[in-house]
Amino acid sequence: MAVRTSSVVAWLTLALAIFDPTCHAGAVSPRDDVPAGYVAAPYYPAPHGGWTASWSNSYAKAQALVAQMTLAEKTNITGGVGIYMGSLTFHYRPCVGNTGSAYRVGFPQLCLQDSALGVASTDNVTAFPAGITTGATFDKALMYARGVALGEEFRGKGANVYLGPTVGPIGRKPLGGRNWEGFGSDPVLQAVAAAQTIKGVQEQGVIATIKHLIGNEQEMYRMYNPFQPGYSANIGDRTLHEVYLWPFAEGVHAGVGSVMTAYNAVNGSACSQHSTLINELLKDELGFQGFVMSDWLSHISGVDSALAGLDMDMPGDTQIPLLGFSLWKYDLTRSVLNGSVPLDRLNDMTTRIVAAWYQLGQDKNYPPPNFSSNTHDRDGLLYPAAVISPIGQVNWYVNVQADHYKVARQVAQDAITLLKNNGSLLPLTTSKSIKVFGTDAQVNPAGANACGNRACNTGTLGMGWGSGVADYPYFDDPITAIKKRASDVTLYATDNFPTVPTPNADDVAIVFISSDAGENSFTVEGNHGDRDSAKLAAWHNGDTLVQKAAAKYSNVIVVVHTVGPLLLEPWIDLPSVKAVLFAHLPGQEAGESLANILFGDASPSGHLPYSITKAETDLPDSVSKLKGFAFGQVQDTYSEGLYIDYRYLNKNKIKPRFAFGHGLSYTTFNFTSPSITQKTALSLAPPTRPAKGTTPTYSTAIPPASEAVAPAGFATIFRYLYSWLSSGDAAAAYAIGSAGTKKYAYPAGYSETQKPGPAAGGAEGGNAALWDVAWELKLTVKNAGTTYKGKASTQAYVQFPAGIPYDTPIVQLRDFAKTAELAPGATETVTLQLTRKDVSVWDVELQNWVVPIVGGRYTIWIGEASDKLFTACYTDTLTCETGLASPV
Ligand code: NOJ
Repeated sequence: MAVRTSSVVAWLTLALAIFDPTCHAGAVSPRDDVPAGYVAAPYYPAPHGGWTASWSNSYAKAQALVAQMTLAEKTNITGGVGIYMGSLTFHYRPCVGNTGSAYRVGFPQLCLQDSALGVASTDNVTAFPAGITTGATFDKALMYARGVALGEEFRGKGANVYLGPTVGPIGRKPLGGRNWEGFGSDPVLQAVAAAQTIKGVQEQGVIATIKHLIGNEQEMYRMYNPFQPGYSANIGDRTLHEVYLWPFAEGVHAGVGSVMTAYNAVNGSACSQHSTLINELLKDELGFQGFVMSDWLSHISGVDSALAGLDMDMPGDTQIPLLGFSLWKYDLTRSVLNGSVPLDRLNDMTTRIVAAWYQLGQDKNYPPPNFSSNTHDRDGLLYPAAVISPIGQVNWYVNVQADHYKVARQVAQDAITLLKNNGSLLPLTTSKSIKVFGTDAQVNPAGANACGNRACNTGTLGMGWGSGVADYPYFDDPITAIKKRASDVTLYATDNFPTVPTPNADDVAIVFISSDAGENSFTVEGNHGDRDSAKLAAWHNGDTLVQKAAAKYSNVIVVVHTVGPLLLEPWIDLPSVKAVLFAHLPGQEAGESLANILFGDASPSGHLPYSITKAETDLPDSVSKLKGFAFGQVQDTYSEGLYIDYRYLNKNKIKPRFAFGHGLSYTTFNFTSPSITQKTALSLAPPTRPAKGTTPTYSTAIPPASEAVAPAGFATIFRYLYSWLSSGDAAAAYAIGSAGTKKYAYPAGYSETQKPGPAAGGAEGGNAALWDVAWELKLTVKNAGTTYKGKASTQAYVQFPAGIPYDTPIVQLRDFAKTAELAPGATETVTLQLTRKDVSVWDVELQNWVVPIVGGRYTIWIGEASDKLFTACYTDTLTCETGLASPV
């Protein structure tokens, strides 16, 4: 029976395009040179999980279960059964990733499913606003509420693992393809949004996956293939800690159950087999207790990746999928039998996976999957990737949407960022004559889901493209919502300015423009994931459309649906362009959310999760440019260090057009009565960490070969990945292992003695004292307007004391809060907190977080944007001042 899914064909095409029978061997060795100073030092062994109190019960249960598993059962749950493979065992497993099972002892296959913004490739779900939109709300409660709703939907569909949130890319490169999946170009904004998402999702019993560890800041050249390694993101230790690892630390602190590695390399070593990243930083320093999975088809070594700390291979295949080959599964079984991979490592891998399952309560009444990622038909191939597959029911059409459109709409609405509103053109009255321009105003005429993986930019842009998408159950488009409110509305659904009647002086033109981006697996209008072709200009000649509308009408509103920053210079200062709204990527709720803002049912309260510069060259080449083709490994060196986005602009005194955090309202707010109290006295370094708790122990004797062999008569499916060896192979491997004759070429620095863990560690996320609240700030926020209600964003930025021996950005976001909707004259007391970590720097010599001057003056700037900070509180005198000039 033929394989029917088009996605399978796509993968096959990719596979054939890069086919090389030498497979993994040539791809990684020898390493290419990286610039001096960027080091991937070996760190072994992989730290055991189970030593924190927060996971000890789950590890005790996991130990009891894993102790009953055979060797092949253990290796079975550490790897996927193959891309596009389901399973008949107990239930269909039709997800983007499906592990093997150990059903004999009660451990099921796990269903791992995209995406970060909704359950992918299925029906009856909510297509939530993207991460970048969520970041633009600057609202912790909404971030959490979206997480709860996402968790309910993943659980309702029977997905065990939510493949989100995305915090890497962080948004270092404005042209980067997947920045929109994450929350904005700042470590704290990413960290807080990720932690809130994880909390919301995991409270529903779903395992969240923070991804991609780390440095996946551009899409092109990200993947290893037999001809070229993925690019190397060369990141210094301090930059890694203070910028890129920060959101992961916060995610681990929030208890995240799994982590996905990135496609690329860091400092010359591939992330999926990077002992520094996984063993040292993630598992030892950040005390991560869950399991680490590879990104799809990025698994390029068998033994090395196991030793480097990888716990799960997804989707199980080698880099060339659909051939029935794996670097783990049966080969991991072999590697344990012949002694190359210590059984101790496999036991830890298995225990981490089982412990995460217990930690999230999935041993009790967790529903099995009731959908197929491969077809919307009721019946379909049970093993789509097999050559011959039985057919059965694969979709049960379970509706998991509940009333989640409400939170989706609220996020979309509260993210809308008013950049400019000259002459208070907004909000509009419904009696205005409104002309709407641009194809982005209405849903794709072919249907909201007409393009697979949303790999086209046709109609209103609600999300980017690639694996980070979900199907729209419906699409509430802007034009429909606008027409519901106002009676005199004309749509010109074209991106070329049409011939129009001579306007009246107070006619309003709303021009919709967009900019799209996505994953490198698809090219859209010449953009290879990254915006390499469109750059920072609006797509479809949007800038010309605005200019022409502005030449004709004197009241122009520009609505922008975008994955990230655009250059607005071609039209931002035109006198007729009175108002600009960034609606980001709203998901299914694009219409009402926007209409509520346009017509004043709510004031805009979104703030920019990145800066908008006046020119691409306002940022250094290392971030403004994408890395192009190079022979050998492409080197992406983070020479700008800590200085991305507003940090770079401030340091270099470059005024952006609109700064990070900027966002206007229809009303105004004032911030009064600031106060600061010290909560914890600080020391140079955090107090000594506690010793690790005990971890499960098992017999480390090489198991008998019989544990590696399939039960007699077991009927296998072609290309399905199993963890069994033939009895001959098992016996041969066992003979080598039991004789101790195998001499694997272990990496430099290889050891099997568990380490006590670094000083900076000690709990989930790092030394627990890093989260001690050092100072608490309170202030009164008042809606100082008389007409409109509105929500205020309060942002707190730290300025380190002058003269410290660490070069530090002038201001850095450390906390933020959003008020409830305040009526004119109403007030709210807002609380902001700074932890020990917030006033520390990563000292590369001490290998610890250090408060540069204990008792020094840390200035906490408070305001509405990174360049509107008029209030300051001082940590030395515990006093505050208002009415100051902003430090940047
Ligand atoms: C590749 C993407 O990078 C990752 O984010 C996604 O979860 C997997 N594919 C699975 O689709």
